[in-house]
Amino acid sequence: MTRDTALILGASKGLGAEIAAACRSREWRTIEVASSLDDAAAEGRLTLRCNLKGEHSTRTLLQRLPGAMAIDHFFWVAGTWWEGEFAEMTLKELLALIDVNFRNAMLVAHAVWQQHMRASSTRATYTVIGSTSGVRPRKNQEVYAATKHAQVGFARSLGESNPNPNVHVSLFILGGMRTHLFDAKPPANLAEFMDPAKVAAHIVRAVAEQQDPYLEQEVSRDTPLGQSLR
Ligand SMILES: NC(=O)c1ccc[n+]([C@@H]2O[C@H](COP(=O)([O-])OP(=O)(O)OC[C@H]3O[C@@H](n4cnc5c(N)ncnc54)[C@H](OP(=O)(O)O)[C@@H]3O)[C@@H](O)[C@H]2O)c1
Repeated sequence: MTRDTALILGASKGLGAEIAAACRSREWRTIEVASSLDDAAAEGRLTLRCNLKGEHSTRTLLQRLPGAMAIDHFFWVAGTWWEGEFAEMTLKELLALIDVNFRNAMLVAHAVWQQHMRASSTRATYTVIGSTSGVRPRKNQEVYAATKHAQVGFARSLGESNPNPNVHVSLFILGGMRTHLFDAKPPANLAEFMDPAKVAAHIVRAVAEQQDPYLEQEVSRDTPLGQSLR
């Protein structure tokens, strides 16, 4: 029996690490990417270092992705956060947020989509991890919110234009997980946030069972679903 392969962009910690673990527990092979991971290969698990702050590092990743290994499941998870007064943000911080959360991640998203379109007869899933900051305004998070709005526009449009019934696109609009995203500025009510392992298990199950060409689901901590994932 051939094993499925999942590519997780942003797999070193937080939600991405839990998604990778959930994929491995299904015996899927994983290709795990992040800037703090070392290049290493073990049975069923390949880790690759890529810093999405840099276009060169991202293009190098694309060259190193094993061409012979079809990607059955893609999870775009990588992201970083910045909160504060917009005027206080340095240009370096501003551009890094755009590069990591959207610009360079899109190069990977594009390459995987091309592969999905070429492998037209194989079932594939393509998951974008969005945020409630991508569908609602968020005070003092203008650039983060802008990158997350861009992701939502991308995923919804791809869902509309997806020509291949074997490819299943999904967008999860998340709100409030206890991850490293908030290390620099932890919210006072962090303890009430969702457990990323439970959110990951929910997402991987949902896409593994997905029948519709496009699935969009909000999973935020204030909803009954979110409360069940605390
Ligand atoms: N936590 C929440 O409440 C929440 C809510 C809504 C949406 N989200 C979204 O969920 C996703 C995952 O975030 P998280 O909450 O799990 O945060 P996290 O614990 O900080 O994990 C972020 C992941 O993104 C990767 N990443 C960050 N900068 C990178 C870079 N320069 N190059 C490559 N990878 C990079 C990190 O790897 P390295 O640092 O090792 O590179 C890590 O694997 C993000 O897109 C975030 O916007 C989170």
